[in-house]
Amino acid sequence: MGLDKIIKSRRSVRKFNSKKPDWRSILEAIDLTRYAPMAGGNFTLRFIVVSDLEKIKKITKACQQDFVGKAQYLVVVCSDPSRTVNSYGKKGESYVKQQAGSAIQNFLLKIEELGLSTCWIGYFVDEQIKKILKIPEKIEIEALFPIGFDYDKRRTRKMRIDFDEILYFDEWKQIRMKKLKKMDV
Ligand SMILES: Cc1cc2nc3c(=O)[nH]c(=O)nc-3n(C[C@H](O)[C@H](O)[C@H](O)COP(=O)(O)O)c2cc1C
Repeated sequence: MGLDKIIKSRRSVRKFNSKKPDWRSILEAIDLTRYAPMAGGNFTLRFIVVSDLEKIKKITKACQQDFVGKAQYLVVVCSDPSRTVNSYGKKGESYVKQQAGSAIQNFLLKIEELGLSTCWIGYFVDEQIKKILKIPEKIEIEALFPIGFDYDKRRTRKMRIDFDEILYFDEWKQIRMKKLKKMDV
């Protein structure tokens, strides 16, 4: 599958069929996160693959989203911000979040290419997840990803925003590009 097709076909899936994903595929997708850009080249992310059904049940409660418990694997994405914050201070806190998003997108696109499905879970009670998975206090939980196979393979994707709504030229809200000089053409 070409890159454009993978990007465009990815969507959040909240209903999985009963087929169990191959855990090796999930590791393949996690492996690709290492290629994401990181401030100062310091890789801040850590991943916990959860397959223990009791733990998945408890995590589902901590997310207050029942569909999470229907997945047979969960990937919990964490960041250790300490080195980046030491190097860049307040900006470092923002870098940690930005690079988590960048790494997660690599993960999501590989999951899509492998024919697996997931949904980004950003809502959960941090302290509860930390307790269940023995995650230290100083580590931040970025997101959780229940992994499975889409129940409805014919699902179509809705585009929610038009291209001309997101693009400005030269300054904020300037929606037209200035006429190019002859030498730029
Ligand atoms: C930071 C973030 C947090 C999210 N948290 C949740 C969540 O807790 N539960 C959920 O069902 N979807 C969650 N989503 C998924 C969004 O609802 C979804 O990406 C959005 O509706 C667009 O749909 P799409 O992913 O199919 O393009 C989250 C997405 C992001 C980026």
